[in-house]
Amino acid sequence: MTIRPVGAESAALLAALHAEAFPPADQWGKQAIALLLELPGHVALLATRGEAPLGFIMGRIAADQAEILTLAVLAEARQAGHGRALMQALAAEAARRGATELFLEVAETNRAARALYAGLGATQAGRRRAYYPDGADALVLRLALSRPGEAAGE
Ligand SMILES: CC(C)(COP(=O)(O)OP(=O)(O)OC[C@H]1O[C@@H](n2cnc3c(N)ncnc32)[C@H](O)[C@@H]1OP(=O)(O)O)[C@@H](O)C(=O)NCCC(=O)NCCS
Repeated sequence: MTIRPVGAESAALLAALHAEAFPPADQWGKQAIALLLELPGHVALLATRGEAPLGFIMGRIAADQAEILTLAVLAEARQAGHGRALMQALAAEAARRGATELFLEVAETNRAARALYAGLGATQAGRRRAYYPDGADALVLRLALSRPGEAAGE
């Protein structure tokens, strides 16, 4: 599996991956993705095996803070470490650009994503009530980022 940055030219592919991973009310169209990727500080990383896309992550990095905008892994490629690898790659890029903390929102009901983020050390920083179209609360999570080259625990 390899992970590489992609830009707005890949918006159609990212929208197709997003549509596969999220219910219709939560899906992002290719125009919305392309617009986001034209904005400063916005990053998309695509995971592939050979030519085949496996999933992607999008984030926003601004000064010392970064935010995950979305993360999606194809159903048939899940629980093989790709989601974690995408998160780690975005966290590393954010740290390289000077971010010291990373925020994200996750539905309280999304057990897979919550387990992934907890495993990376993310902790709850807040809650947005009835945030999602299905009425679920969003948990706001925070992950402290190490500076590039700094080993955990140093
Ligand atoms: C959430 C998602 C990105 C996880 O991707 P993934 O590639 O399957 O995740 P990984 O294989 O890297 O899993 C990492 C850890 O997450 C946890 N995890 C992942 N899927 C899980 C599941 N279905 N049940 C419980 N724990 C799970 C495990 O702790 C796992 O570590 P382990 O395998 O060493 O035990 C994927 O399920 C997905 O695309 N879901 C739909 C879209 C979505 O919910 N995105 C996140 C929005 S905030």
